[in-house]
Amino acid sequence: MLVRDMGMDGIRSFLLFVLLLLLRACFTISADDTLSKGQSLSAMKTDSISSNGGQFELGFFERGTPPKFYLGIWVKRLVGQRTVWVANRENHLSDPYTSRLEFSEDGNLVLLEASSKKPFWSTSLPNLPSNSTEAALLDNGNLVLRDRSDPSTLFWESFDYPTDTWLPGGALGIDKTGKVPKQLISWKNSEDPSPGLFSLSLRIDPNGSSEYILEWNRSQVYWSSGVWDGKAFSLVPEMSLNYIYNFSFVSNENETYFTYSLYNASIMSIFLVSSTGQIQQLAWVSSVQSVQPWSVFWARPNSLSDVYALCGQFGIYQGNTSQPCDCPKGFEPFSDNQTRLNDWSGGCLRRQPLQCENRNAKNDWFQKIPNITLPISWKAYSAMSVRRCKLVCMNNCSCTAYTHNSSGCLIWEGALLNMQRPSDGGKVGQDIYFRLAADEHQISTKGTKWKVWVIVAVLVASTGLILCLSVCFSIKRKFKHKGEMATSSNDLMLFDLSTETHAINVGTNIQDNDKKRGKKDVELPLFSYESVLAATDNFSTANKLGEGGFGPVYKGKLLKGKEIAVKMLSKRSGQGLEEFRNETTLIAKLQHRNLVKLLGCCIEGDEKILIYEYMPNKSLDFYLFDLAKKKMLDWGTRIHIIEGIAQGLLYLHRYSRLRIIHRDMKPSNILLDSEMNPRISDFGMARIVGDNEIQANTNRIVGTFGYMSPEYAMEGLYSIKSDVFSFGVLLLEIVSGKKNTGFYNHGSLNLLRYAWELWRDGQSLELMDSSIGYPSSTSILVRYINIGLLCVQESPDDRPTMLDVVSMMSNEYAPLPTSKQPAFTAGRKLMHTNPTVNSVENCSINSVTVSVMEA
Ligand SMILES: *[C@@H]1O[C@H](CO)[C@@H](O)[C@H](O)[C@H]1NC(C)=O
Ligand SMILES: *[C@@H]1O[C@H](CO)[C@@H](O)[C@H](O)[C@H]1NC(C)=O
Ligand SMILES: *[C@@H]1O[C@H](CO)[C@@H](O)[C@H](O)[C@H]1NC(C)=O
Ligand SMILES: *[C@@H]1O[C@H](CO)[C@@H](O)[C@H](O)[C@H]1NC(C)=O
Ligand SMILES: *[C@@H]1O[C@H](CO)[C@@H](O)[C@H](O)[C@H]1NC(C)=O
Ligand SMILES: *[C@@H]1O[C@H](CO)[C@@H](O)[C@H](O)[C@H]1NC(C)=O
Ligand SMILES: *[C@@H]1O[C@H](CO)[C@@H](O)[C@H](O)[C@H]1NC(C)=O
Ligand SMILES: *[C@@H]1O[C@H](CO)[C@@H](O)[C@H](O)[C@H]1NC(C)=O
Ligand SMILES: *[C@@H]1O[C@H](CO)[C@@H](O)[C@H](O)[C@H]1NC(C)=O
Ligand SMILES: *[C@@H]1O[C@H](CO)[C@@H](O)[C@H](O)[C@H]1NC(C)=O
Ligand SMILES: *[C@@H]1O[C@H](CO)[C@@H](O)[C@H](O)[C@H]1NC(C)=O
Repeated sequence: MLVRDMGMDGIRSFLLFVLLLLLRACFTISADDTLSKGQSLSAMKTDSISSNGGQFELGFFERGTPPKFYLGIWVKRLVGQRTVWVANRENHLSDPYTSRLEFSEDGNLVLLEASSKKPFWSTSLPNLPSNSTEAALLDNGNLVLRDRSDPSTLFWESFDYPTDTWLPGGALGIDKTGKVPKQLISWKNSEDPSPGLFSLSLRIDPNGSSEYILEWNRSQVYWSSGVWDGKAFSLVPEMSLNYIYNFSFVSNENETYFTYSLYNASIMSIFLVSSTGQIQQLAWVSSVQSVQPWSVFWARPNSLSDVYALCGQFGIYQGNTSQPCDCPKGFEPFSDNQTRLNDWSGGCLRRQPLQCENRNAKNDWFQKIPNITLPISWKAYSAMSVRRCKLVCMNNCSCTAYTHNSSGCLIWEGALLNMQRPSDGGKVGQDIYFRLAADEHQISTKGTKWKVWVIVAVLVASTGLILCLSVCFSIKRKFKHKGEMATSSNDLMLFDLSTETHAINVGTNIQDNDKKRGKKDVELPLFSYESVLAATDNFSTANKLGEGGFGPVYKGKLLKGKEIAVKMLSKRSGQGLEEFRNETTLIAKLQHRNLVKLLGCCIEGDEKILIYEYMPNKSLDFYLFDLAKKKMLDWGTRIHIIEGIAQGLLYLHRYSRLRIIHRDMKPSNILLDSEMNPRISDFGMARIVGDNEIQANTNRIVGTFGYMSPEYAMEGLYSIKSDVFSFGVLLLEIVSGKKNTGFYNHGSLNLLRYAWELWRDGQSLELMDSSIGYPSSTSILVRYINIGLLCVQESPDDRPTMLDVVSMMSNEYAPLPTSKQPAFTAGRKLMHTNPTVNSVENCSINSVTVSVMEA
C-alpha cells in the first residue's frame, strides 16, 4: 500500500497512520504494486508497496546498532519475514526522517536523504521516457522499471542485480555484453547486508561445460557444483530428485545463465548464500507454523568446516556448535559485535603487536597451539631440524608460524587461514607454533575487564613493593656508608660505588641509556672481592675451568645457587679503573642469545675480574676435535651452532651500538649452554683490557693463528671482515670436524685449501665429518661449505659481511657467488713481521703449523 501525505491535520493523520500500520501488520492487504512519478516512499512513514499476490513487499527496513536503514524487498510473512533484495547494501541510510524513494526528473528511481544531494542508490539509466516510467513489484519478487503505457517494456529489473538471494524466475549467470555478472554475494552477517566475503557465480570452462562455484573474497574457489549434465549438477544429487524445481540452462549471443521455476507455484522457495559461506536452499513450510518456518532443504558445503577461511585470519574452527570459531592464545576477536553474530570475517588480532622489527625490544617467542589442521599456503623445508626450523622463522619478521614433524619443517608468512580443531573425522592435526610478542608472556588469557583489574592490581602492588624496597635499600646504604664498608665474606649482595640505582637492568634500552650516561646511568654490578673469593672457594684449583687468552677462568657459585664463571684478567693491561668500569658497562649492555652474558665485574687493587654466566657444556673445541665426543654434535646441532655463531657475530658487527670486532673467533671461544646453543665469549676484550688500537709497543696482536685473516696477521689491519674470515674457518671446521691448522690430507696443507679444492672439483661432500654419518639432506651443508669458502677469501673486499652470510643462510634457494681461492699463504710473512708472536697465549702450536705451511 502506498501511504501518501496525509495532510496537516495532526491527530487525524496520526490515527490514520496508526490504523494503516495495524492493517499492514495484521492483514496482507493487497495494495498498489506500483509507484509512479510524483509518488514517493518515505522511510519515516514505513511506506511500502506489495506485489499483487501479496507474497513480496518493497520498503525500508533497519538493521544493526546503531540502526542503519536500507531499501529492500522481503518475503511478506508474519513470522519468518525474509529479505531477498537490498537496493543500497553498500550505502546505508542513517536518517530515516528524511529518506525517501522517488522518481527523478529524468524518470529514474532514486533513493535520497533530504540533507544530501547525492542519491544513495539509483537506477541511473540514460534516455528514459521521463514522464511515463513507473516502478512495479511483480509477483515473483522482481522490482521493475517499465513504461506505463507499455508494461511489457522493462527498462530495469532487480533480478539483474541480485544480492544474496536467488528467487524462482531469476537468473544467475554471466553477461556477454559487458554488464555486471549476475552473482550472489553474501551479507556480512545477519545485521549487516553489505557485501560479505562469500559469493556464488557461474563459471564456464573453455570446453563449454558450466558449473557454479562458491568463492571466498572473489578469488578463492572452495566449492563447485560440478558440471551441468542437462538435468542437474553432478555434485548436487539432491537436484535430480527433480519434483520441485525445474532448472533450465539458457545460452544465447548475449548471455549465459541458469534459471529455475517451481512445479508447484504455491511453494515458496529461495536459494541464498549465507553469511557463513554456504549455499542453502530454503523452503517455506506453511504447515509448520513454528519458530523455524524456513527449512533448509540442502546446503553446500555440507559442513561449515569446508567453508574457506570461515574463521578469518588466525581464527580456528572448532566444530559447528553455536560458536564455530575461536581465537588462539594471545589473540582476540577482531570485533566482539561481529563475532556475536558469527561473523568472523575480521578474524583474530594479536593482543600485543610483534616487536620483531624493533631491535631494542625483547625477542618474540613462539606459543604452541596443539593439534590443529595446517593453515594453507606454507613453505616447506625438507630435512630441517626443529631448532633450525624455529630459527628460520625467528629470523624472518614476516614468518608468523612454524611446525615441524619427521618429514620436515613448514613455515607460514602473513595471516594464517583455515585452521581447524580436527573434531569431525578424517582430518589430522599437528602442533603449530605461533609467533607472539614477548609481552604476551605476562598477560593473562581471561576476559578483558578481569585482565585490566589484574594488571592494575599488579601494578599497584609492584610499585608499592619497589618503593618499599628502595626505601629499605637507601637506609641500608646510609648505614653502610657510615659504618662497616666491607660486606661480610659470605654476603654476596652486590653493591654499587657511585650511583643511586639498584635495578640491575643493563641492556634493555641501549640508546636511552647511552643518551643519559652519567650519574643516573644504569651501572654494571660491582662484586666485592670477598664475595668473589667466597664464590670460587678462594680461587681453588678444583674450581679452575681453564686458562683463557687473558687469564685463568674459575667456576663459582653465588649464595642463591646461581653458577658463574669468573675470569681474572692478567695484570699487565694499562687501563685505569674508571676506564675499565666504563668499558665493562658498555660490554655488559650487549645482550643477545648467542653471546655469553657479562654479569658483573670486580676490582681489587691490581686485580680486575669479570663475572660471566656459567655455561655448563664447555666450549665447542671440547667436542669438535675429540674423537669420542664429536658424535654428540649431530648435523642438526652443528647447523644450529653455525647459525647461532653467525647471528651472534652479526649482532656484534651491526646491531650493537659499539660495533664490536671480536678479533679472536675460535672454537674455544664458542661456549655451549645447557641446550647446546652456541654463545660467543670473550667479545669486546680489546676494549676491556685497553687494547683498542694496535699498539706497537705491546708487541701483541690479539688473536689466534689459524683463525686470523691474512691482512690482520701480517699487517695488523683488522676490520669486521677479519671476523668474517675467522667465522669461515670455524664453519669449515664444524662441518669437517677437523682443525684448520695441523691438517694434512691428500697433499693439501691446510683445511681451507683442502676444502676449496674439493669444492672446486664438485666433491664438497667429502669434506663432511664422516664420523657422524651423512645428513639426510646434504644440500644445506654443501651450501654452508660454499659460504664458508666465501668468508675465507684472500681479499677482505671479496668476503661477504655477516649480514650477507646470515641472509645467504636463510634464503636457501638464492644463488651464491663463486668463491675465489682462499687465503692460505699467510704464514711465512707473518713470522717475519711478528717475531714476538709466541707470547700470544694458546697459539704456539698453531703458529708453528702456520710457519710450516708454506715450506
Ligand atoms: C512530460 O513532462 C513535461 C515536464 O517535465 C511536461 O511539460 C510534458 O507535458 C509531459 N508530457 C507528458 C506526455 O506528460
Ligand atoms: C570439459 O568438460 C568436462 C565435462 O563435460 C569436464 O569433465 C572437463 O574437466 C572439462 N575440461 C576442461 C579443460 O575444462
Ligand atoms: C580480499 O582481497 C583483496 C584484494 O583482492 C584484499 O585487499 C583483501 O585484504 C582481501 N580480504 C581479506 C579478508 O583477505
Ligand atoms: C521447465 O522450464 C522450462 C523453461 O522455463 C519450460 O520450458 C518447461 O516447460 C518447464 N518444464 C516443466 C515440466 O514445467
Ligand atoms: C541480444 O541483444 C541485442 C541488443 O540488445 C538484442 O537486439 C537481441 O535481441 C538480443 N538477443 C537475445 C537472444 O536476447
Ligand atoms: C502445491 O502445494 C500445495 C501446498 O503444498 C498443495 O496443497 C497442492 O496440492 C500442490 N499442488 C500440486 C499440483 O501438487
Ligand atoms: C553440524 O553440521 C551437520 C552437517 O551439516 C548438521 O547435520 C548438524 O546439524 C550440525 N550441527 C549443529 C550443532 O549445527
Ligand atoms: C557494538 O555494539 C554496541 C551495542 O550492542 C554498540 O554500542 C557499539 O557501538 C558497537 N561497537 C561497534 C564497534 O560497532
Ligand atoms: C623473509 O621472507 C620473505 C618472504 O619469503 C623474503 O622475501 C625475505 O627475503 C625473507 N627475509 C630474510 C632475511 O630471509
Ligand atoms: C608432516 O607434515 C606434513 C605436512 O602436512 C604431512 O604431509 C606429513 O604427513 C606429516 N608427517 C608426519 C609423520 O606426521
Ligand atoms: C587431535 O584431536 C583429535 C580430535 O580431538 C584426536 O582424535 C587426536 O587424537 C588428537 N591428536 C593428537 C596428536 O593429540
